[in-house]
Amino acid sequence: MAANVDDIRNAVYKLPTDVKEMVRLGIQHSIWSLMIGGLFPVGVSDQVDQLLNDAQGRQGTVLDVGCGSAIWATNMAKTFSRAWVVGLDLNAQEFSDAPENFEFIQGDLDQTLPKFNGRASIVHCRCVAQHVRDPQTLVLLLSQTLRPGGILLLADGDWTVYDQHKKLVEPFKWWNCGTTNSNPAEPIVLEKDACGRSWYASWLDFFGNLTRSKDYRPIEELVKNVDTLTVLDSHRYLSPINWPGEGIENGEDLGRILNINQRDFFVGAKEIALQAGFSHEMIEVWGRHYEAEIDSETRNAHQSIVLANESDVWSSKVFRVV
Ligand SMILES: C[S@@+](CC[C@H](N)C(=O)[O-])C[C@H]1O[C@@H](n2cnc3c(N)ncnc32)[C@H](O)[C@@H]1O
Repeated sequence: MAANVDDIRNAVYKLPTDVKEMVRLGIQHSIWSLMIGGLFPVGVSDQVDQLLNDAQGRQGTVLDVGCGSAIWATNMAKTFSRAWVVGLDLNAQEFSDAPENFEFIQGDLDQTLPKFNGRASIVHCRCVAQHVRDPQTLVLLLSQTLRPGGILLLADGDWTVYDQHKKLVEPFKWWNCGTTNSNPAEPIVLEKDACGRSWYASWLDFFGNLTRSKDYRPIEELVKNVDTLTVLDSHRYLSPINWPGEGIENGEDLGRILNINQRDFFVGAKEIALQAGFSHEMIEVWGRHYEAEIDSETRNAHQSIVLANESDVWSSKVFRVV
């Protein structure tokens, strides 16, 4: 089917929302947990405990914004059984494992977030900013949901790839591939033009360009632009793919799980590439090289996390995570 790249770019959310994708999000959740040391970075455990345990034994409100399978939210609800944990998302899922203190609210974030203004102790928003049309407005709305002293935990993946020496891995140019409504390159041309460059980096480059808002900025910048937020910590994690990395905590497990996740991600993204005008043959060629590369080369992916809070109360508290 011919590409309609503009339609894809304008869709509210482009990735699949089926059970398979929810399983992949579960895998991705394990990656985040291994990277940051649990449901939130180990360095903020005390702050989270303080926020969620007031003198009267109330635990307050936790929001998981763009919760997907709600794996983070339901785990928070189990850990803080007196907190009210709310998952917000465009798409509903089964949530069969959810405890009673978890509630799901379906809807677009632009409409649902203002209902929580000033009410949330902890707001978590992971791998969402790159999928919304206006990422800066999202971060502003998130900041407004915080009660004084509340913490925003914003996390996102980075679409760049690094080798084992932390050198940027260049994608080859996927010009012609899905950028117009016609004439997608033939696999044979694509193979020749790859010129030994990275198929894996190229897929991320292509897919990121197709699905991210043109206004997307790294989350560190998005947070900096909101006056009422103070950055408590900002951390970039390097995640090894199919190797343990060098000096990376939980590297062995991360390397193994990242390989599975990145394979599943390719499968989930295929449908969008088809809609964008790629032929089945081309995707087959691309997939073969992509998998061979993450199985045999030492590759790293970057992910970022920023912790910010409502500045009135804790502006002087800055701490390091890890
Ligand atoms: C990549 S998933 C991440 C899910 C979850 N935060 C996690 O880390 O496992 C992004 C989620 O954001 C949701 N989403 C994207 N745009 C949205 C919007 N405008 N309003 C509500 N949810 C949205 C999608 O439905 C999807 O479940």
